[in-house]
This record gives sequence, structure tokens and C-alpha cells, in this order.
Amino acid sequence: MRYGDLKYLSLGEELDKNQYVTCQYYLETDLPIVNAANAIAAEQSTGTWTKASTLSDDIFERLAARVTEIEDLGKKTVDGQILNVARTTVNYPLEEFSIEVGHIPQILSVIAGNLYGLLELKNVRLLSCLFPDSVIRKFPGPNFGINGLRKVLDRPDRPLVGTIVKPKIGLDPKQTAEYVYKCGIGGLTNSKDDETLVDQSFNRIDDRVPAIADAIDRVRDETGHRIVHALNVSTYVKDIVEIAERAVENGASQIMVDVLTSGYSALQMLAEADLGVPLHVHRTFHGAFTRSPYHGMAMEVVSLLSRLSGGDGLHIGTFGVGKMHGDPEEDMASRNILFNDIGLKTVMPVCSGGMHPGLVEKLVSISGMDVQIQAGGGVAGHPDGVLGGARAMSQAVDAVYKGIYLDSYAEDHIELKKALDKWGYVPGSDHV
Ligand code: 3PG
Repeated sequence: MRYGDLKYLSLGEELDKNQYVTCQYYLETDLPIVNAANAIAAEQSTGTWTKASTLSDDIFERLAARVTEIEDLGKKTVDGQILNVARTTVNYPLEEFSIEVGHIPQILSVIAGNLYGLLELKNVRLLSCLFPDSVIRKFPGPNFGINGLRKVLDRPDRPLVGTIVKPKIGLDPKQTAEYVYKCGIGGLTNSKDDETLVDQSFNRIDDRVPAIADAIDRVRDETGHRIVHALNVSTYVKDIVEIAERAVENGASQIMVDVLTSGYSALQMLAEADLGVPLHVHRTFHGAFTRSPYHGMAMEVVSLLSRLSGGDGLHIGTFGVGKMHGDPEEDMASRNILFNDIGLKTVMPVCSGGMHPGLVEKLVSISGMDVQIQAGGGVAGHPDGVLGGARAMSQAVDAVYKGIYLDSYAEDHIELKKALDKWGYVPGSDHV
């Protein structure tokens, strides 16, 4: 049998957590579960499908991953085949990682690499990952974090409320800037490029940035209100810092990167470039490997890696209230990873995708006040246009902050009323 040598099993052994990266996996297999767990540890460290004559005792002792726990979750039938289901803990010794430099790619190749393709594992999902302090300290972490972002916006405790400029592609720089201006006047704190807009011919970064900066200045001069716009610089990693630096010189107030298509290194390079503006992190592509509960990788791992790499705000989903697939419990786990005490600044959870004013009360009843809520269609689709949509979103956030139910607040806030009439209202969990 492939991976039949069960030498990677150390069941019940108490290892020093400071010396290992500890990962939890869910697995479905037609093998006995001990063989399947052993296969993960072997393939992802010193082993392969058969015994290699070159694997010395010394290499094994220093570098072999150890399986310390296997929880038998019973059986399941898939396409007529009976599979064994389990959860297992695999510990990777620190020496297995190029951690002296603190970079994500090689770490991912270890903890989430070849195992996904092994025939022995019908499904396998990386559920969580725990790094010792010595590893965490190698990474930059957020430069701004939640507190820094709030300071930039002079918004100490209310949820941040933003938009994604729509249509996601097609507007020119002037039209984009006008959109941002209306959002600022309407009370939004954040605006952003969509994940597919970067530097297309119809909206070049060099033209978009100064136009938006000017719009943001006009909002400030006219009302005193602060809004930032996240400029998407997702591109060839070699150029990304230069593009971001030039954008900041030209007035960009926030930089955005699609972390999963650009790579964690792109995010880390931006964080280490110390641009002087916060970094907004979009997770587009995550559904390819987070959506199945049985296979791939949990979003909380993406959250942790994005925090290590230096994101100040990260899309985490909408706790099941918006348009994108999302398990509320998983979204909460992602949020908690952005907040827990690991010696790095906290990251602002961004809830985006199908949001509109009528969902704000429900969302905040789950997320709490430390959240950035964003609506694209939920602003641009308002009956009174972008300005009306911005006002309605802003009013919804003010209402929940003040502890007033949206249906009551809408009685004397016309833009909110029109939004609730158009898209409906989902009351918060504590609505009486
Ligand atoms: C995003 O970037 O989250 C989406 O583009 C959201 O757009 P929507 O608010 O129109 O769903």
C-alpha cells in the first residue's frame, strides 16, 4: 500500500507548540484513517508513496511531520463508495520552513500543497493553522490595522461604511471621481475600485488617482468629512510596489490588492514598502478552494496569512446575509483570526457582496461595530442614484450605531426609506 509505513504517527504525543506549525485537516478517504493521516504528514514533509533509500534516520528525526491526533468522524457514502471521515492534527517542525525570511509561498507549499491531489484522499481541507510566535514575528503584519484606519478616517467607533464603484469596469476617471465625490458627500467613509479594475485603457491609474484625490479634497473642503478610495494595483508582482508608490505620490489614499490572484508576496511587498496609506485586501478567487466544506482550505487560513502579510482590511464575507456563498460560522472564524492576540495589529473585517441598507442592522448584530460594510449595487442601484444610495447606507449605519431599528429611522430619513422599499429589510437578531 502507498504510504503504508506508518512512521509519521505520534498519536497522543504532546509536542512543544513553539517548535512546530500545527495544522488541522478534515479528510475523506477509502483508506483506514490512520493511513490517510500518515499520508498527509509523509507527503508534506520527508516521505513519498514508497520508502526512499535516501531518507536517513537523521533527516526523519529533524524534519518529519508528526500526526498527533486523529478524530474518527464515522463514514459517508459518495457515489456509492463508502469513505472514512476524520479530522487530524499534523505538526510540521520549524526546520521544514524557510522561516528565516518570513514569506508565505513555501509555507503554503508545505501545509497546503501536494496533499490536495493525492488519490488516497478523496477530499481534504485545511481547517486551521497555528504558528509559533517566532514565525509570526518574521512577518510585517498590518501597518495601520483597525485603529490606524479609524484614525485616518477620524471615525473612532462607528462601523466604516463604503462602496465599490459600479459598474465594475467601464467608467472613465472623471466619472469614477464624480462617483467618489457623491459617496463622500453622502457620508460614506470608504470607496474602492472593484477587483477587476486596475489599469485598463478606459481608466488609467495615472488619470484616475489625481481625479479621485481631487474629489476627496472637495468633499473635505465642503463638508469636513473624510473618505478614502482604495486603488486596485493587482498586477505583475515585479511592478506592484512602483505602481503603488507612484499612485500614493499622486494622491492615492488607500491601496488595494487582490491577494489570491496577485499572491501573498505582493501584499507583503506593499506592506513592507511602507506606503503611508492603509492596504485594502480583496479575496477574489477564494471560492475556488473555500466553498466546499470538505475540500480546499478554510477562509480563516486566508485571513491569518493576509494578516501576517500586512493587510489592514480584508474581505471576509457577509455572515450569510449578502449575495456570496458563505457559512456564517466560517465568516465568524475568519473575523476572529483578524482580532486575536498574536502580537500583530488587528485587521478590519470588510463585509461586501450583495449588501444594501436593509441588511445593515442584521449584519452589525452579528459582526459588532468593528466592521467595514460595503455596497456597490446597494449604492448605485438606489432610486435616487449614487448620492441617494450613499446617504441611505450611511443612514442605516448611523441608525444601528444609535441603537434605532431601521424601520423607525427610515420614517424621517427618506433615502433610507426608499432603499428599504426597493430592497427590503432584514431586521437584526435582537430586533423586538
Ligand atoms: C465586491 O467587491 O465585494 C463586490 O464587487 C461587491 O459588489 P456588490 O455590492 O454590488 O455586490
